[in-house]
Amino acid sequence: MVKPHILLVTYPGQGHINPTLQFAKRLINNGVSVTYATSKFAVRRMNTTSVPDGLSFAAFTDDYLHGFKPGDDIQHYMAELKRLGSETLSELILTSANEGKRFTCVVYSVLLPWVGKVAAAAEIPSVLIWTQPATIFDIYYYYFNGYGDFIRNNVDDPSFLVKFPGLPELASRDLPSFFIPSNQYEFALPSLEEQMEILDEQTKPKVLVNTFDALEPEALKAIDKYNLVGIGPLIPSAFLDGKDPSDTYFGGDLFNSLKDYFEWLNSKPKSSVIYVSFGSISDLSKPQMEEIARGLLDSGRPFLWVIRENQDEEKQKEEDKLSCKEELKRQGKIVPWCSQVEVLSHPSVGCFVTHCGWNSTLESLTSGVPLVAFPQWTDQWTNAKLVADVWKTGVRVSNFNKEGIVEADEIKRCLELLMGNEERGIEMKSNAKKWKELARDAAKEGGSSNKNIKKFADEIAKHCQ
Ligand code: UDX
Repeated sequence: MVKPHILLVTYPGQGHINPTLQFAKRLINNGVSVTYATSKFAVRRMNTTSVPDGLSFAAFTDDYLHGFKPGDDIQHYMAELKRLGSETLSELILTSANEGKRFTCVVYSVLLPWVGKVAAAAEIPSVLIWTQPATIFDIYYYYFNGYGDFIRNNVDDPSFLVKFPGLPELASRDLPSFFIPSNQYEFALPSLEEQMEILDEQTKPKVLVNTFDALEPEALKAIDKYNLVGIGPLIPSAFLDGKDPSDTYFGGDLFNSLKDYFEWLNSKPKSSVIYVSFGSISDLSKPQMEEIARGLLDSGRPFLWVIRENQDEEKQKEEDKLSCKEELKRQGKIVPWCSQVEVLSHPSVGCFVTHCGWNSTLESLTSGVPLVAFPQWTDQWTNAKLVADVWKTGVRVSNFNKEGIVEADEIKRCLELLMGNEERGIEMKSNAKKWKELARDAAKEGGSSNKNIKKFADEIAKHCQ
């Protein structure tokens, strides 16, 4: 029998690359070969060590887009990604078939709806992999199906509340930032709408979601016309089910890390360190950075703070702009990037100050580390709501000042709640431990996500018979 072969196409952002690479590994463990494609720019930057047998890389787009990064002129970038990506992926599909390695199925991540069209034109089935929570998928669905005007007309009102079927009641501040009219990422809604339209061409389409049944039972089932399937958490096995202790790395970092922080972490007492990171995209303003620095210093606790190096090749490093840099270095450690899953599973880490990107949120849940939820944009506002009010594994910053900055006192308050001995904080830590077990249960042999991935691999294999 011919081995099933999947073309897995990913948007070139770290938050998309990490879970999809993990999904590729899971598929390979289930007897599927995977060709993993993302932009040429990302493939060149990706640190792809420890690639398992059965995984090969391909790049879509050509050198014209080399050097473009999301954030430059995003509208133009997305249009070119679509135009060039459609051409190069169609060629890849054809070449692969001519070489006797025909793709059995195309799996593609969010923000690339055109990949579904390329697959349809080549008469290959395609499946969307949703790299955010099922709740967010549902919210976008409702937005495009009956709730759009209601949200647009009310989202500016801070007292506005909306109750979508199957989801908790949400306030304006809990909704994805793409609904806010002044948001600079206007491209996102049309892309998501196009994605929903493509799905609607199929009957009860399957959507693979980086979540697990116990975490979002209602959201996975809320919309009857889709088959949302939990396959997460998609994080390296060593930090999850432990089945493959050598799988300690996502395998596609776009940033460099020195790993010189482990010795420092090892020297700290159990649960004493505050880990701070705002993911791979968000850039905080200088005043906000100063307030975080002061909050950390005032907490009196050690911290590991990821401050990404400026990608614009500005001479001055981001951390050098902080007025209290020397004090910070005495109390904590600042790094440009780290192996976050390893850090979160380190015993000295006591809490995580995070932007609530979906991967960071899931990684924290899986490691049993409570969160200070400090959302910035996109799905992070909703993720923060779920963390604070549904899973109750963390506290959300509030009290923004007139300039929209969270001040040091508020940051210190949240840190004390999680790092100290207040009853509410103890409850959050105990909830975090509970979710850690449930996440592992989903991933282990016979667990819900493990079974769903196996089932998907079996279905793909049937196409080859
Ligand atoms: C983006 C959006 O911001 C997020 O809201 C959406 O859910 C996914 O796309 P990003 O900002 O990169 O993601 O955040 P996140 O989803 O948390 O992904 C970051 C990834 O980078 C995580 O897997 C994290 O482990 C990794 N990381 C981050 C590191 O390995 N080292 C670091 O120093 C920081």
